[in-house]
Order: sequence, then structure tokens, then C-alpha cells
Amino acid sequence: MCGIVGYAGPRRVIPVVLEGLKRLEYRGYDSAGVVYLQDGKLIKYRCQGKLSNLEAIIDEAIMAPSHIGLGHTRWATHGAPTTENAHPHSDCTGDLVVVHNGIIENYHSLREELRAKGHRFTSETDTEVLAHLIEENLDGDLVAAIRKTLDLVEGSYAIGVLWAGMPDTLVAARNQSPLVLGIDENGQGSFMASDIPALLPFTKQVIFLEDREFALLTAGDCSVYSLLSGEKIEKKVTTIEWNAAMAEKAGFKHFMLKEIFEQPQAITNTISGRINPESGEVDIPEIGITDEDVRYIERIFLVACGTSWHAALVAKYWIEKYAGIPVEVDIASEFRYRRLIVNDRVLTVSISQSGETADTLAGIRLAKKLGSKVVTICNVVGSTMTREAHGTVYTHAGPEIGVASTKAFTAQLAALFLFTLFLGQRKGVISPEKSRELGQALIGIAEVIKEKLPVIQTQIQQLIESFYSCRDFLFIGRGLNFPIALEGALKLKEISYIHAEGYAAGELKHGPIALIDKEMPILALVPQDAVYQKVISNVEEIKARQGRLILIGTEGDQHLKTITDDIIYLPAVHEDMNPILYTIPAQLLAYAIATRRGCDVDQPRNLAKCVTVE
Ligand code: AGP
Repeated sequence: MCGIVGYAGPRRVIPVVLEGLKRLEYRGYDSAGVVYLQDGKLIKYRCQGKLSNLEAIIDEAIMAPSHIGLGHTRWATHGAPTTENAHPHSDCTGDLVVVHNGIIENYHSLREELRAKGHRFTSETDTEVLAHLIEENLDGDLVAAIRKTLDLVEGSYAIGVLWAGMPDTLVAARNQSPLVLGIDENGQGSFMASDIPALLPFTKQVIFLEDREFALLTAGDCSVYSLLSGEKIEKKVTTIEWNAAMAEKAGFKHFMLKEIFEQPQAITNTISGRINPESGEVDIPEIGITDEDVRYIERIFLVACGTSWHAALVAKYWIEKYAGIPVEVDIASEFRYRRLIVNDRVLTVSISQSGETADTLAGIRLAKKLGSKVVTICNVVGSTMTREAHGTVYTHAGPEIGVASTKAFTAQLAALFLFTLFLGQRKGVISPEKSRELGQALIGIAEVIKEKLPVIQTQIQQLIESFYSCRDFLFIGRGLNFPIALEGALKLKEISYIHAEGYAAGELKHGPIALIDKEMPILALVPQDAVYQKVISNVEEIKARQGRLILIGTEGDQHLKTITDDIIYLPAVHEDMNPILYTIPAQLLAYAIATRRGCDVDQPRNLAKCVTVE
């Protein structure tokens, strides 16, 4: 997704904006640009490709004595990733510029109307229309022109605007795309950015802009107003606990590897303070659901995308098993367009690392409109989903920079297991003994992962030499591990570009087994759990067809050695914890193969960390 950075204050603006954009690179982009105001003129630099290309053309201007400006990294939605389409975009005069993240859905009709009035466009983007529309509405009052413009547009936006006629002020505004404001400690500087990491080198004091709000940023003030009424809004300043280092690689080669190894801490941070270590009793005050609400719920929708959807699939098994509430799991982009049968006895739970995924956000808005109570499981404080849901269960995984989600996923699983215990205990259907058992299992899993991570990494590294050049890969699992087979396939395909598919092991005979030959690698998750024998049968069927098996199984299971030499053994844990534990080798396999193939692990091609467009 696009990245926006803006600054007004005592510092030289270009170094601030470039540093902020570098912290947003993980969002994925294909062109970049900056603009600053100097001697009454807006000076703009734009380029295709990475920020290094931009720095090369900015050259000595990086020390320009300007103290107000904007920067942007563009992830193309309308128009190819070219210099002409890179932001900032200008109006006809060149005295007003706009940077934008989102999609203006009615830009085509607006552009035709503006063309008829004599406006000339130099790009294919929807953003340039905003610049010309503000110009068309500008009659000396920039704020009025922006409010009128945004009243005319349909779609999602987070924008930054700078006008030479108002040289001390940046204007920020948002609707459905994230934008966070920063105030530096001594109150002398104001910042805007698409995400928190861009602010961390400068400040931890942030204000979250909400939909249909705008802000005026000057060197000494950062004030927020309603787009609809124009009234000033008093906003809470949040202190972010993350520091810039946390968002750095901490010595690991890639953010993804760092985040894989951060998972024990992410799980521990997510559950601590929410579960009684002795009784297993769960308390999640911020969830926004009373005991009476729980007893009134007759159905749960779990709504998510991608990896977060895999977490939802696991949660379905847990919630139905321990809370006895029927669960429907939906991919958000399907959920939002199907005819939903919803009433106030349905609880909708969104699962999202970013809290900004457009389809998931649209899903909870629809569910809310239809009368459902909404809870979100989310990793980003103050993200849109957390401010629109009735309740939030934060995953305290810390900033996840790698595009491929890892620690956020296992933290989501930990949060969803907490949620399961919360539901079952409030309904009175989990006995104190079972609460103790399940609580101990959850509390103990982080330590098991911490101990085993380096061992698994070494085993995987030795194993991949004969697999990294494969063109296809199958992953199979049953029950709680079927979603982990899907997750393992997604991890591999999104960072190594190998075509990988995950299947329910029992599904092989219904088609996929036709794919098995001596070239096809199949990773099977085969812990000694309730469906172990069934998976072993599937594995034997694969062996009989010369499939190249990798088995992830339970330590001490000698039978696996009669099937293949490529085995990763994991400790026996409570079977409900297997999905969390068995994710680890799948993540490390994807990482090892992708790095062996020389892929850009942290910023895979075509992908963005946060999909804020549908
Ligand atoms: C995860 O590895 C993927 N990059 C992607 O599927 C991601 O899980 C999905 O886009 C949902 O994002 P969210 O959790 O921020 O909503």
C-alpha cells in the first residue's frame, strides 16, 4: 500500500520525510516522491522504483533549508508505476500538491468535468484529480476547498495537501485509509504518516485520525477537525510503547526471520495479564462483551483475509469444541457480498494484523449495520478496525514489518484460544479442571517454541537443499492442522513464488492425488493426535506413488522413519496447541527456501503488507 509522510517544524524537512518513507518501505511500493516549500515555491522530486532512485535525484537538495513538506511511496492502483504517476501530484498552477493513499472511485467522472473546465492532466492517477478539484474549489480558503472537494469524492483516501498560499500549514484528511499524526516531544514539530514506524525515529506521541476528520499541521500545532461540521475535535494523544529499534531487524538478516524468532515473546505478551496461571480463568476487559452477551450469542462469524483467515479456521475448531457455539468462517471479500443472515444474537469477529484491510473492514461495517455485535482481534493500536468494533482483543506482537505474516499469526492463535476459553467459561461449559488444563497448555507453548526454534531452523536448513528448486509443493493436514497446511502453502508461495497448495489430507483422493509423482514434494503435518492414523494412511498412499514426503511429527514416533528420511520432529504438546507449534517449521521452510532462491523475503513482488484497497 502507499506510504505518506509529512512534516512541519524546526527540522530540515527532506531528511525527515525520507527517513519516514524508509520506515514505510515494508508496505510495498513501486515509485516515490517528495515535495518541499522554499521561497514560496513548491519543489518536487519523483521517480519510478525504490527510494534510492529518489535520493539519487534529490542530491544536494536534501539539505534544502525548508521546514515543511510531504513524501509518498506509491503502490500502483490506477496507472502504471511510472514517474509521471508518482506522487505528489500538482494542480494546474503547480502551487498546490497532494499525496494520497486509497482509491477515488468516481475519479473518472470528476476528471471529465474538470477537463471540460480547462484542467490539463499529466498522469493516469485518481490522485491528480484531487489536486485539480481542490484548485477548482479554491477561493483563498484552502480548508473550505478541501472540505468541499472531499464531499464530492467517493471512495477511500488518506491525503496530505500543501499549498504555497498557506506556506506554514500541511492539511491531512482521511476516510477508510489509515493516517496517524505525531507531535514531537517539545511540541515544536508536527508529523503525519500512514503508519506508526515512520514516526518512531522522531516521536512516540501520536494522534489517530479517524474517518472524515482532517488536521492542520504547523510547526507549533497539530489540530483535528470534523470534515462534516468543520468543528475542532479534542483528540487523545497515545504514547506508543514500540521504539524504533523494535521496528528494526535487531541483527537478523530479514524482518521476517526476526519476527519468526519473536513469536515466543509475541505469544507471551498476548496472553499475559489475561489468563490466571493457576486456574486458567480468562479475563479480557477490553473485549466489550458481557457474560450476558455471551449467553445470548447463538452464532459467531469469523471474518478475515489471507493468513488471518487461516487463524479463523483454527478458531472454529476450538470454539465449537469448547464453547459449543456454531461458527461460520468467511473470507472477508466473500462475506461482504453474500446475503448474510444476521441478527443481534450473532457475534462477528474480525481478525486482522493491520486493522486496515479493506475487505475485512467492509465486512464488519456490514455486520454492524445488520445488528451484529463486532469484536476485532488486531495487532495495531488505534487502527480503524479497533475504533469501529464494539470490542478489541489486541495481539501484542509488536510491529510486524515483513509482508509475510508470522508472529502476528501465532499471536492471533493465542488470542483466539484465549477468546475460546473466555466464551466457554462465561457460558459455564468448561469445567475448572479443563480450564486449568487448557490454560497450562497455552501458557506453556511459548517456552516450547522458544527452545525448539533454533533446532528446527537447523533441521530445515539441512533439508531444503533437495527441495528449494521445486516448481510445486503440496501441504496436507487434518482437523486443527488443516488450516496450518493452508498457512504453510501461503507462506511458501508468497515469498518463494513456488506454486504451493494446502489441502485437507482426507481430500487427496478426491483429485489432488493425481498430482503425486516422484517430482512432487508433499509436506504432511502428522502429530500423534486424534486423527494420526488417518493422516498416516494418506501419507502411505503418497509414498506408494513415489511422492517426495517431508513429515512434521511427534518426537519418538519411529514409524515415520519407515516412510521417509525427511522428518522434523516436534515435542508432544497438548493437541490443541499443535496448530501454533506446527506453524513454526512451515514458516522456517518457506523462509529457508525463499532465501535460498534469492527472493526478496521482506518485500515479495506484487505484495503489500496492508491491503487497504479491495
Ligand atoms: C500474510 O502472510 C499475507 N501477507 C496476507 O495474507 C495477510 O494475512 C492478509 O492480507 C490479511 O492482512 P491483515 O491480517 O492485516 O488483515
